[in-house]
Amino acid sequence: MGVNGNRASRLPFGGSESHAARSMPLSSINANEVFNRGLGGGLGPCRTRLPRLAFRFAPDPAREPAMPDSPASLAARLPHLGRGKLAKGDAVPPPVVLASVFNLPGDPAGFRQYGRFDNPTWEAVEALLGHLEGAPSVAFPSGMAAISAVFFGLLRGGDRVLLPADGYYTTRLLAERFLKPLGITFDQRPTSLFPTGGFEGYRLVFVETPANPGLELCDLETVAAAAHDAGALVVADNTTMTPYGQRPLDLGADIVVAADTKAPNGHSDALFGHVASRRPDLVQAVSDWRRLSGSIPGPFESWLVHRGLESLEVRFDRMCSSAEIIAPRLQLHPNVESVRFPGLPDDSGHALARRQMQRFGFLIGMTLASAEVAERFIEACTLIQPATSFGGVHTSAERRARWGDAVQPGFVRLSVGCEPVEELWSALELALGAA
Ligand SMILES: Cc1ncc(COP(=O)(O)O)c(C=O)c1O
Repeated sequence: MGVNGNRASRLPFGGSESHAARSMPLSSINANEVFNRGLGGGLGPCRTRLPRLAFRFAPDPAREPAMPDSPASLAARLPHLGRGKLAKGDAVPPPVVLASVFNLPGDPAGFRQYGRFDNPTWEAVEALLGHLEGAPSVAFPSGMAAISAVFFGLLRGGDRVLLPADGYYTTRLLAERFLKPLGITFDQRPTSLFPTGGFEGYRLVFVETPANPGLELCDLETVAAAAHDAGALVVADNTTMTPYGQRPLDLGADIVVAADTKAPNGHSDALFGHVASRRPDLVQAVSDWRRLSGSIPGPFESWLVHRGLESLEVRFDRMCSSAEIIAPRLQLHPNVESVRFPGLPDDSGHALARRQMQRFGFLIGMTLASAEVAERFIEACTLIQPATSFGGVHTSAERRARWGDAVQPGFVRLSVGCEPVEELWSALELALGAA
């Protein structure tokens, strides 16, 4: 089953239920286990159990086990995770807890201690993320902060890292500027060639699929198996897909990182990120990094992302469905030179996307005749917000070559939003005609 159950009936490209079922190896770890194992840990005795607050978001065992872990059941249960934990008269949504200190007389063990260690609003959003990932999840103030936690929490001088040559460019910049001087070397490889190049000598293999912005794919299961054979850790940046669209931990990745700045928050008003892993040692390391480096999310941003996650499934569904309708129409448009979208049957990533993704995503890469034509199209379209970033409720677009990405000058990354699809298509078509 796909995100919403009967996916086959909604796929314009002849999707079959058997494909969708095969591509859904959901976690055997349920949200109860995630919570019982703790979300994030910390530095030994400093770890807190948080017994006294009214709003706790651990799933209620009595309410959890009935439904299997499909994306639809995850989505159905997500807004109800806290229900069994509320006392009569408690607020249903989580409060924004603005606190740098907590009431802490005597022995501090087992209690919240300090705002750099704990915050109840982080814990609320981490519970939702943990539920969606099927793994303990540690929140960070941005996607790059999450990636930094993995790099600086896990790597040591002398380690070698493999990065995607065509993924989000800031990850490579971070490695160049701040890992290299520590004696941590890195190589780059095109995403589509990741599985074929070997992984001998790497401590960490960092993969991004579909890669931003070119939307190349690689086979996560193959990469994870081969990288593990070579002794490497596998980190997947799942920003472009969210846990509803792709589940790298189920495909063998050790760690997921994601920028929740994008679709998970969805309203373009907060930066956020998280790291998820089923390995307690890795969760501990990134939690320790957060606590010691002070790379902590703000309570208000945590609250915004919590709110965003409650509607992620419905937004993601609308955005992906609209992209599935718009991409083939763009492909037929005389003013569009080429289209990249994993849902297109002739896209080089299509067969793999059908196997490893639950949806085809909401990002479309389209190449127009020149930089000027692309800029005119973006400016002219009344339902496009010109902006960097993606995953918002509003459709947005940008010409990625303006940042130096290795794409054609006329390449536009279109992030399909939540607007009704025919209205959106009319606006896109009009702007293409005028560009
Ligand atoms: C794939 C990917 N990973 C990570 C990030 C970084 O996220 P943030 O801007 O929240 O730091 C981005 C941002 O665009 C991204 O596209």
